[in-house]
Amino acid sequence: MLAKIAVLVSGGGTNLQALLDAQGKKLKHGEIKAVISNHENAYALRRAEKYGVPAYTIKNENEIIQIIEENKIDLIILAGFLSILSKDFTKRYTNRILNIHPSLIPSFCGKGYYGLKVHEAALAYGVKITGATVHFVNEIPDGGKIIDQKAVRVHKGDTPEKLQRRVMEKAEWILLPRATEAVCKNILKEKTK
Ligand code: GRF
Repeated sequence: MLAKIAVLVSGGGTNLQALLDAQGKKLKHGEIKAVISNHENAYALRRAEKYGVPAYTIKNENEIIQIIEENKIDLIILAGFLSILSKDFTKRYTNRILNIHPSLIPSFCGKGYYGLKVHEAALAYGVKITGATVHFVNEIPDGGKIIDQKAVRVHKGDTPEKLQRRVMEKAEWILLPRATEAVCKNILKEKTK
């Protein structure tokens, strides 16, 4: 048995790609059953289609819930999903929603810290090490329990774009499949208790 995963996306979907590529390899205990976007033009949806994974565009949270329930999803992964979920939603799926954030939480996180803004803030502060964090999602933006983190060095002359790319390559694309595997394994263990 495999844990059933839904990935929520809004943009390019390179983290989704890392998960798709990891299936059957580093990701042994989970399978992506649905990719859900709030933007119909999100390239992430095309990535899903290429892998034969059902891709959905939704207008509101109720539509997400419907897809989750219909597909008996065990784990929801936010991979660049640029919409804040309601308290009702996060409560309904306690310990069943993961997010990847491109900094070492608690630095450069919370409301307003997304995309390049995170890396701009890290460079402006002058930190020498940044990275990525995978955490459970609760009602506080980037405030849920940390599952795993991976550090990345800031280089002299970094621009936000260069740093963003390094954090993705050296941290996010490795960390997300790894943390997903660990959580899926646990979910299956719970199920078979
Ligand atoms: C990533 O940096 C992720 O950490 C953040 O949003 C970005 C999504 O990029 N939450 P992609 O769509 O996976 O390429």
